[in-house]
Amino acid sequence: MAENVTPQQLTQTHEQALRDFASINDLESLKFFTSQTVGKKSNLGLWFKQLKSLDVEMKKELGPKLQDFKNYWEQACVSKLQALETAALNEKLKTDFIDVTQSYPTQKGAIHPLSQVQRHIESIFMGMGFEVADGPEVETEWHNFDALNVPANHPARDMQDTFFVNSTQSESKNNSVLRTQTSNIQIRKMLEKGAPVRIIAPGRVYRNEDVDATHDAMFYQVEGLVVDKNISVSHLKGTLETMLSAVFGKTMKVRIRPGYFPFVEPGLEVDIWWEYTDKNGEEKGRWLEFCGAGMVHPNVLRNSNVDPEIYTGFAFGFGLTRLVMMKYGIEDIRLLSSNKREFLQQF
Ligand code: PHE
Repeated sequence: MAENVTPQQLTQTHEQALRDFASINDLESLKFFTSQTVGKKSNLGLWFKQLKSLDVEMKKELGPKLQDFKNYWEQACVSKLQALETAALNEKLKTDFIDVTQSYPTQKGAIHPLSQVQRHIESIFMGMGFEVADGPEVETEWHNFDALNVPANHPARDMQDTFFVNSTQSESKNNSVLRTQTSNIQIRKMLEKGAPVRIIAPGRVYRNEDVDATHDAMFYQVEGLVVDKNISVSHLKGTLETMLSAVFGKTMKVRIRPGYFPFVEPGLEVDIWWEYTDKNGEEKGRWLEFCGAGMVHPNVLRNSNVDPEIYTGFAFGFGLTRLVMMKYGIEDIRLLSSNKREFLQQF
């Protein structure tokens, strides 16, 4: 049987423990120290047992001391464990962290050529005092046709190969179509704002076409409408020449000849002089159909609550999709809605 523990022995053990403890700075050593000082392998368990066989005086003196020793070292070991674990975690975090700002190299996007040209055209027209207007693509049959002076059974409704969304109502205001032209915005803007008005309306239109390299069932148009006092065809010609020259970056020649659209009188076709280099490297030029236009028909003004005795106006509608194809020499219209990167990266 080991010798009974004495107060001196306890003090010595405590002092030795203080010295050892001070030099501990890793988890492994702390674990060892803890088990030696207060763990099962320590003398503490034995000393508590020995208490029972001591005399009363000694018991009174040693009992509380043993308890203090136990409390002190249990507390000290837990505190140090926490401190060492925190330090180890901080050390690990210095190298082992997630950089939330780091990402894989992304593919750089760009503005679609249609949008690029559309934006350019909008800014050209805004420079001439035009407002950019917008309107629904699912339109009433009335806004798309009747109000534009296209009579009920007029072949123009077939001419534009209309997609009817619903055509069961006798009242054309209750039927809807996918708009076949941006001319619906003429009606909407005049009804909304009255005259004078000066707008362009770029947007999508839909026609039930057989799709090929030059036809798509969806394409972009830009409508133009100017209604004011004393508006004439020369304003129309000047406006289109200014816009086209800005788009192509050189003076563009425009020619006007008669054409037919129910919503204009006189109706006009606008051609542009197109210069190109042929296969043999020769500089050539020819007239190219560019758009429909004309002076706004009095019926259209009346349908939009504008007095044709006071106001006149011109309107035009050109294919933005086609203009983009001409500007960049794109030969297949389908590429513009293909979303092909090889194609789009060229712009
Ligand atoms: N809306 C006609 C079309 O789509 C073009 C046009 C617009 C013609 C305005 C005259 C006036 O073909």
